[in-house]
Amino acid sequence: MKAVYFDRHGDLEVLKYGDVPDPVPGPGEVLLRVRAAACNFNDIWARQGLPRVELPMPHVSGSDAAGEIVELGPGVTNVAVGDEVIVHAVRACRVCKACLSGQEVFCRGMRIWGFQTGPYDGSYAQFAKVQVQQVAPKPKHLSWTDAAAVSTSLVSVWRMLVTRARTQPGETVLVWGASGGTGSFALQLLRVLGARPIAVTSSREKAAFCEQMGAEHVLLQGEHDVHAEVRRLTDNRGVDIVFDHVGETVWPISIECLRWGGRMVICGATEGFTPQIDLRYLWNKQLSFLGSHIGTHEEWRDSLKLVEQRKLHPPVTRVYPLSELVQAQAAMEERRLMGKLAIDCA
Ligand SMILES: NC(=O)c1ccc[n+]([C@@H]2O[C@H](COP(=O)([O-])OP(=O)(O)OC[C@H]3O[C@@H](n4cnc5c(N)ncnc54)[C@H](OP(=O)(O)O)[C@@H]3O)[C@@H](O)[C@H]2O)c1
Ligand SMILES: [Zn+2]
Repeated sequence: MKAVYFDRHGDLEVLKYGDVPDPVPGPGEVLLRVRAAACNFNDIWARQGLPRVELPMPHVSGSDAAGEIVELGPGVTNVAVGDEVIVHAVRACRVCKACLSGQEVFCRGMRIWGFQTGPYDGSYAQFAKVQVQQVAPKPKHLSWTDAAAVSTSLVSVWRMLVTRARTQPGETVLVWGASGGTGSFALQLLRVLGARPIAVTSSREKAAFCEQMGAEHVLLQGEHDVHAEVRRLTDNRGVDIVFDHVGETVWPISIECLRWGGRMVICGATEGFTPQIDLRYLWNKQLSFLGSHIGTHEEWRDSLKLVEQRKLHPPVTRVYPLSELVQAQAAMEERRLMGKLAIDCA
């Protein structure tokens, strides 16, 4: 089958489009004909490599997919060939205590499909195998490319805002990196939850996009003093919640922007893992720091209900053919994207 793969870490030139072995579904797995995939920043981490993280090579990335089931592995009975499905990126052992209690994100064997799995095991390919527990019916009203874009970013945002931060109606939330995949779903979900998102983004074009996604206010990095604006917009009180995946460069500002008793929820650190923090703020302001990592199957299904109800929309702004995945990764890496980028694998 055709796929995009790499066999060593590096810049964009390590990505190759070519023939790789067809996947074979094992027990409890299904084989999908991938119609579409969607991009996540973990694709960039996988290709560049991360300190102390060993990834299987050769590597096919891609943690989001929509497609048709074309073959059932041994023991699979609850889905059928021809079913149109989307994929939740969490692979897990399915038998440990964490898995059996619906907390597979705490399974010691949990792997993010298309990021930590392999060799050749992700959605940037014509075919892919996944555990049967990873699939759910494709929302009927969505195209293949839109359907591919409603899983990884959205379930991560759901876990951050609903499960971890327990966002309440009326709360103010500062959203960093607001125009990207995670950010644009956060803006939409915050509006559905009745909260008041203040977006931070990096250009005027992106600011207009953030408004479309639901931002009540948009601040421009480099142009606005984010802390001063947050004080102005919250009557000097500070925000209830900071939603972050940017990390090191924004961490000190986030701490200043939080109200006393506020909470920060974080799922990533695109701009560095080791921020400086003056610990006095932590206890004097009595702040809570909440880490969050992807989401459970149940959280995924809960978030998809809002997609089915047309309350959340896949923010796909551009579709690339599989053979041009390198262009999509360049846009992500150079911070040129808005919303989600989808890949047509048909
Ligand atoms: N642990 C988890 O479960 C989980 C889940 C999803 C994402 N993440 C992490 O969250 C981060 C964002 O992921 P994503 O898929 O939403 O990425 P994305 O779609 O590329 O969006 C990232 C956004 O962050 C902002 N940004 C700030 N500094 C940047 C930089 N140096 N390079 C590129 N973008 C920068 C940009 O928005 P503006 O221009 O608007 O500022 C960009 O659009 C990544 O670090 C990813 O690994 C973690
Ligand atoms: Zn388990």
